[in-house]
Amino acid sequence: MNEVKSLEVKELNKEIELNVNEEKHSLSVAPNHTLLSVLRNQLGLTGTKYGCGTGECGSCTVLVDSKPIPSCLILAVAVEGKRIVTIEGLSQNGNLHPIQEEFVKSMAIQCGYCTPGFVLITKALLDQNPNPTNEEIKQYIKGNICRCTGYVTIVKAINAATERLKKPKRQRYDSGI
Ligand code: FES
Ligand code: FES
Repeated sequence: MNEVKSLEVKELNKEIELNVNEEKHSLSVAPNHTLLSVLRNQLGLTGTKYGCGTGECGSCTVLVDSKPIPSCLILAVAVEGKRIVTIEGLSQNGNLHPIQEEFVKSMAIQCGYCTPGFVLITKALLDQNPNPTNEEIKQYIKGNICRCTGYVTIVKAINAATERLKKPKRQRYDSGI
């Protein structure tokens, strides 16, 4: 009986190609599987975290065509042809992205569960608005929940990343990239 059921479900799968972190992946996905589930369970990109599963915590945030999206709320089949960036896609040649480095330096990470979502929402913010005020930062990140830090160090890290990213590209990375 179980075997019949699993065959039936498999027949409903869709063949799609996802562009994740500049790599194309051909996948067979269930039509009701979320992007979060496919990233974590089929692509092994476990940096994207499952928190609430209902769009309220931001821990599953990824960038879809540069916009921050809760990946628990969108179906994988709906993002075929779009450019998806997860936390694994931010580092370059093994070096952390400047936003990640500023989160570390500002001690904006405790348990770290919320951090990938906060780093990606910061990337989206600074791509749109390279010089946000404190109020604009707080507004933009209000959909992301951190249960550890109290947010002060997160806002500090975002301000530090803002300053860092204003610098010419050569000076942004400690490694000189
Ligand atoms: S797990 Fe997606 S918003 Fe909480
Ligand atoms: S550092 Fe623990 S939830 Fe944010």
